[in-house]
Amino acid sequence: MRCPGRDRNRWVVEDAPMGSQPKFRAIRGVKDILPGETARWRAVERSFREVFALYGYEEIRVPIFEATDLFARGLGDTTDIVEKEMYTFPDRSGNSLTLRPEGTASVVRAFLENRLDTLPPPVKLYYLGPMFRYERPQKGRQRQFFQIGAEFFGVAGPEADAELLEMVHGAFDRLGIDGLKLKVNSLGDQECRPRFREALIEYFRPLAGKLCENCQRRLEANPLRILDCKAASCRELRVGAPRIGDFLCESCHLHFETVRRYLDEWDVPYEVDSEMVRGLDYYSRTTFELTSGRLGSQDAVAAGGRYDGLVEAFGGPPTPGLGFALGMERLILILPEDKRDREGAAPVFVAALGDEARRLAPGWVTALRRRGVPAAMDYEGRSLKSQMRRADRMGARHVLLAGDDELKAGQLLLRDMESKDQREIPVVTVVDGICEIVNS
Ligand code: HAM
Repeated sequence: MRCPGRDRNRWVVEDAPMGSQPKFRAIRGVKDILPGETARWRAVERSFREVFALYGYEEIRVPIFEATDLFARGLGDTTDIVEKEMYTFPDRSGNSLTLRPEGTASVVRAFLENRLDTLPPPVKLYYLGPMFRYERPQKGRQRQFFQIGAEFFGVAGPEADAELLEMVHGAFDRLGIDGLKLKVNSLGDQECRPRFREALIEYFRPLAGKLCENCQRRLEANPLRILDCKAASCRELRVGAPRIGDFLCESCHLHFETVRRYLDEWDVPYEVDSEMVRGLDYYSRTTFELTSGRLGSQDAVAAGGRYDGLVEAFGGPPTPGLGFALGMERLILILPEDKRDREGAAPVFVAALGDEARRLAPGWVTALRRRGVPAAMDYEGRSLKSQMRRADRMGARHVLLAGDDELKAGQLLLRDMESKDQREIPVVTVVDGICEIVNS
């Protein structure tokens, strides 16, 4: 049974009468997701869980905070996230903790700590949950945001990259989201990236005075970050900068070519964006972003790539890895209107009038709920008219009309709110009678 009248817009209150100002407000950059929206969130979550099951991923739940060092070392201490965006605080014992800005570092830590590296590969894990970054809030950018992500350990070959990209493409397609652009690039590996790094330093060194302050500092330590810097001056200066594509070693080149060949064979549209470097240091070889023209400047709805050195950097055995994460708020902005999860079944509303009926109503409601039928009632002895209005607003499919007269006659009335039909139900078997009707 679906509820006909349950309307998610009833949670959008635009012209409420002026009242006193609330004492507390949510922190800047953080949003409540109200019941009218959560059905859409659930539809997305359910769809991704189904996709993950198809591809052999299982869910992992990792903590929301970790030792600060985990992120500093995992993401790179000259990345924007680590330099400027982490919510870091000492706990009462003086340990430095950080609210997770992303999921990969935590999943890699959990993978090693729980010895999942000893399982036969591949190990495929997915996660859902809030992440935290102190960024300037704007459309599609929040300080607490929600990610759905997946990590795939143990396969070095390009089949894994292609499989991941095909899965992400298919998952968005399945939700009816179109107009997306998949941009892919290869960042090379430990063999060829150092040469690219040197070329970048050489290129930017004479221009150092014109780089933004951050990039001047990062020039020698991490010149790749200049390619990802949002400052206008740095954007201009990098126009003629060396491209990673020209530096790839033979095996990185072949790996990338093979990924692309699979994507072509499987009709996964993409374009190569040789300027894309991503904002995290752990990537090697394939990286990607899925962007939408409908999102404004924060246009990446999902992103990821390969990180073959990360497990080792965390003290584990050499283990290839790759993954992605999507930003849920951004996805919801481009999700078709009609995508929403099943709402709960429409309730039966018990409209009780008179002392005796009001005394009995809580028992009926309880019995109905115990039988799995959602049920609601008026708690304040309101008029019939006001109770009917309430029933209507909550999308009740049936209303049980119970007044003293009906009780005396031993027959209550069950009104179908759609057809407006009314049926008599004997009071002694009222709960059975309702269950029979709503479940038919
Ligand atoms: P990321 O590109 O930093 O990658 O974030 C992934 C997605 O999260 C972005 O494409 C965007 O949709 C969303 N996102 C990021 N920051 C915000 C924000 N402030 N507000 C709203 N949405 C945001 C990672 O996090 C990597 N861990 C992905 C990955 C997994 N790579 C390998 N495995």
